Amino acid sequence: MTIAVLGGAGYIGSHTVSQLVKAGQDVVVLDNLVTGHRLAVAPKARFYQGDIRDYKFLSQVFTQEKIDGIIHFAAFSVVPESMQDPLKYFDNNTGGMITLLEAMKQFGIDKIVFSSTAATYGEPERVPIHETDPQVPTNPYGESKLAMEKIIKWADAAYGIHFVALRYFNVAGAMPDGSIGEDHKPETHLIPIILQAAAGTRSNLQIFGDDYPTKDGTNVRDYVHVVDLADAHILAMHYLQAGNPSAAFNLGSATGFSNLEILNAARTVTGQAIPAKIGPRRPGDPSTLIAASDKARERLGWQPHFDDVEAIIATAWQWHQSHPNGYGDR
Ligand code: UFG
Repeated sequence: MTIAVLGGAGYIGSHTVSQLVKAGQDVVVLDNLVTGHRLAVAPKARFYQGDIRDYKFLSQVFTQEKIDGIIHFAAFSVVPESMQDPLKYFDNNTGGMITLLEAMKQFGIDKIVFSSTAATYGEPERVPIHETDPQVPTNPYGESKLAMEKIIKWADAAYGIHFVALRYFNVAGAMPDGSIGEDHKPETHLIPIILQAAAGTRSNLQIFGDDYPTKDGTNVRDYVHVVDLADAHILAMHYLQAGNPSAAFNLGSATGFSNLEILNAARTVTGQAIPAKIGPRRPGDPSTLIAASDKARERLGWQPHFDDVEAIIATAWQWHQSHPNGYGDR
């Protein structure tokens, strides 16, 4: 029984590989290392460097390894970048999925758990957002992931490739033992940016917009700890292995924090003043994203352990302090 983790050197992928290895699972990692880090991959996992859009690479790995299921993280995920370069997102995310499904069909691999996103919903009609709510993305990143969901649904109907689409809300934090964490270059996400400002490695912190229709005018997001998210992938693979039908699940905490609330929580956790300015809105940002994730709790048996945003930020802060330059590989 071998699981292939695509994008297993990335932020969420590496935490999932680590949790799988700890559970005694045989793991193969495929990653092109464009945004991932070789050092983030647990030593027990067998590593193959290559791109999921490269059919020859996939078929070489799938010939060498007997893969029973795939957990697929390999994608670009930066909302503002997707606004500037949408084709990069449709090529890598959506195009990559087509090549991957072709290889799965060819090699008889019939189970896949993959990263979808809250960004597929766009500006929600109601909060918390349920899985059955309309999916109308406000940015190409969300659109590229929605297209992946649609393609896989038809691949399931035609070829019997069963899937779980996990729609993440905002992921944050790091492995509590300090071994792995978040390292994006350039960094665009709110919590690591705030922590860079707290550590003094970033001089300029802006909160993008304070005129949204929210409690304090800044965007509201639902934060999930990266290890809780990782565990959801393992449960989702078990769900498919047990013969359950393909499905999509939200992964969030049902609690929304505004950007200013996150800033204040980080001030408490770090004990630093963290100077910040209000800047203009960032194009493509929905004002509020909060998940209803009862479905994941009921059907997958998912039980997040981190239910407090300060505890989530504290693990991220520990990683930042011990790895001020991330993995130091770029
Ligand atoms: N923000 C700032 N200043 C910054 C960076 C971010 O104010 O320097 C704000 C953003 O405008 C947004 C909030 O902080 O209001 C969160 O932004 P992030 O970039 O951290 O995260 P996003 O909500 O844009 O996107 C993240 C993931 C996506 C995922 C989405 C789902 O990157 O992949 O969460 O909610 F789809």
